[in-house]
Amino acid sequence: MNDNRMNDNRMNDNRMIDVDHLNFAYDQAGLILSDICFHAEKGETIGLIGANGAGKSTFLRLLVGLDLNYEGEIRIAGELLGKKTLEHIRSKTGYVFQDSDSQLFMTTVAEDVAFAPRNYGLSEDEVKRRVDKALAEVHIEHLRDKSIYKLSGGEKKRAAIATILSMNPEVILMDEPSAALDPKNRRNLIHLINELKGTRIIASHDLDFIKDTCTRTVLLSEGKIIFDGPSLEVLRNRELLEAHDLELPLSLMHVITHTHDGSTHTHMFIHE
Ligand SMILES: Nc1ncnc2c1ncn2[C@@H]1O[C@H](COP(=O)(O)OP(=O)(O)O)[C@@H](O)[C@H]1O
Ligand SMILES: [Mg+2]
Repeated sequence: MNDNRMNDNRMNDNRMIDVDHLNFAYDQAGLILSDICFHAEKGETIGLIGANGAGKSTFLRLLVGLDLNYEGEIRIAGELLGKKTLEHIRSKTGYVFQDSDSQLFMTTVAEDVAFAPRNYGLSEDEVKRRVDKALAEVHIEHLRDKSIYKLSGGEKKRAAIATILSMNPEVILMDEPSAALDPKNRRNLIHLINELKGTRIIASHDLDFIKDTCTRTVLLSEGKIIFDGPSLEVLRNRELLEAHDLELPLSLMHVITHTHDGSTHTHMFIHE
């Protein structure tokens, strides 16, 4: 690293994630992420959108160090992500799996939420404090001693989020958090995400969900960043979304149906 670069990082205390010229391939089949440059400031909530296969999950997995075999640089709070820094970076980066069943593996909710802080070597008193706090943050104190297999889908998602909150993460990454949730749980999750602290990146093809949680949105297509800016700017750009196999969020469409002579006309336009 040259001196200029180091000075830049020191000057910007608010920078949480720095990704520079990131390239990644799983195998010989070709680049899955290509020349990604992305920066996030402390406390930002950023939507990561893109059609299936665009590379959203891969990007999140790389940020949390699940695959270190990348080219370019990934820094979390100024620290270069690699073998030596992995444990430290993991301790402050929470990753919420798309499938909650992959995240929950202990018998009860409290045991699962205690797992990471206990594994990190914190005292039992501190572990208990962390568990109480994390359960309260996701409003499931009452599920503390419940068996994981008896939880509903929405409860599992909350428990999964609590398992990362017990480490007081500075960065929270969520992969398709609204997938498989019914409308009520989806709505509750939007409120919950908006209450969380820390730098949040939410990967989703549920564009309404992104609109309700993220002020900034990154559009990925075939492993490249196509747009990075204010959420509404991309979420109401039908042409851009359609060019990358996405559709306008429902809440930004107006559907008006007129019936003349028994025929139905449906008009859709972008709601200002
Ligand atoms: N473990 C893997 N091995 C090889 N290719 C993979 C693997 N996981 C994902 N891919 C490929 O990487 C591309 C991006 O996938 P992914 O990151 O899951 O996209 P998204 O989350 O946007 O749907 C896809 O072409 C997918 O087939
Ligand atoms: Mg995915």
